[in-house]
Amino acid sequence: MHITVVGTGYVGLVTGVGLATIGHRVTCLDIDKEKVTRLQSGEVPIYEPGLAELMREKMAQELLTFTTNAQEAYARGKVVFIAVGTPSNPDGSANLTYITQVCAEIGMYARQDMIVVTKSTVPVGTNDYIKETIERHLCSDVAISMASNPEFLREGSGVHDFFQGDRIVIGTADEPTAGVLEELFKPLEIPIFKTDIRSAEMIKYASNAFLATKISFINEISNICEKLHANIEDVAAGMGLDKRIGSQFLKAGIGYGGSCFPKDTDALVQIAGNVKHDFQLLKAVIEVNNKQQTSLVQKAKQLMDLSGKRIAMLGLAFKPNTDDMREAPSLVIADQLLTEGADVVAYDPQAKENAKLLLPHIQYVGSIDEAISEADAVFLVTEWDEIKQYPLEQYVELMRQPVIFDGRNCFELERVRQYALDYYSIGRVPVLRRQISV
Ligand code: UDX
Repeated sequence: MHITVVGTGYVGLVTGVGLATIGHRVTCLDIDKEKVTRLQSGEVPIYEPGLAELMREKMAQELLTFTTNAQEAYARGKVVFIAVGTPSNPDGSANLTYITQVCAEIGMYARQDMIVVTKSTVPVGTNDYIKETIERHLCSDVAISMASNPEFLREGSGVHDFFQGDRIVIGTADEPTAGVLEELFKPLEIPIFKTDIRSAEMIKYASNAFLATKISFINEISNICEKLHANIEDVAAGMGLDKRIGSQFLKAGIGYGGSCFPKDTDALVQIAGNVKHDFQLLKAVIEVNNKQQTSLVQKAKQLMDLSGKRIAMLGLAFKPNTDDMREAPSLVIADQLLTEGADVVAYDPQAKENAKLLLPHIQYVGSIDEAISEADAVFLVTEWDEIKQYPLEQYVELMRQPVIFDGRNCFELERVRQYALDYYSIGRVPVLRRQISV
């Protein structure tokens, strides 16, 4: 099948490469000339494990091409996937500027009947708006059918999730359109769930809001555990064994970040508000998350004066295996540390360049060793394998004072107790140096 994917951001690129891999002929369209030139030369502009290799392979087989030429791209695709960004407006609602531009172009250049599939996360009801906007710009006598096919790709595992996802959701207004998409995704052998368009749009928001709720819930439990001297890791493990609860997304930490959860939870509160529903539970989830991002520095402030201290931050990306800094808890933590007058030295295996744009006032180094040398305290912010596997004796060896604030519970307490470290983590009792000397 000939497919056009509009937008070569994270979602569009993984989708385009994935669809080419299951045998479709895919044209990826983007307005960013520089990005398209890089993609045409086989370069992936984001860090995503496994994506570059697969992309080059599909380009070599001529199943995947990149272009800035809208006319050509829409002339080819019988199925068009919209995967452009829907950033947040200042009030939290989704900004549909890019979607609207794409609709106008599809209308102008569509020359055959077309299925337009919305991958971008859009407020419930937006597919009606997309159809109307395309039809208003139509220059030929062609029929436009709409479908909503939300993405559930995690950054850092996007390629895996495309091929091994738990479900594919297809929302359409008619069975023939759903049938075409079912056929298109068939080679993936992933369960397909068919529904109406509005329900499909809502599934995306409800799924992300539910996962965010799970995280804020466990973070609140971790705060109570700290006060009651219980251990959040054991509490979460014990809860997760109940199949109705499940063990995933019960990892307490410094709050969720990234390009989806903060944006989509805000948008769902807005969507509910528009129909006069006060989504109190989700508002609390967001509030808990905002507070949780500040909790580690609050803890540190109670224990030491941070002013003038050399503080190392290990990990900056919003989670491991990505260079994405959007809504990363590290942004809040670095700001707090700077406000306290600390000297912040940071290391991240991939996110340094993106971080520099958002955090220009901290120092960046190229290794964990450099970051922690002579530091008065270390903040563990992202649980990269490199950080989890770094030998604990090095902290004792290199730091001025071996004090660790671990926002991701990277280490077992039993292990930490073998070293002369002061170790504060999330939802667990602290390990203190004086305990090992008695
Ligand atoms: C998420 C959804 O998982 C995906 O289905 C959706 O389509 C896009 O949003 P992503 O943002 O890439 O994907 O990351 P994810 O792995 O879900 O993590 C999101 C945030 O939650 C990260 O900041 C992570 O550190 C945090 N998190 C996750 C926790 O704090 N605890 C957990 O148990 C799980």
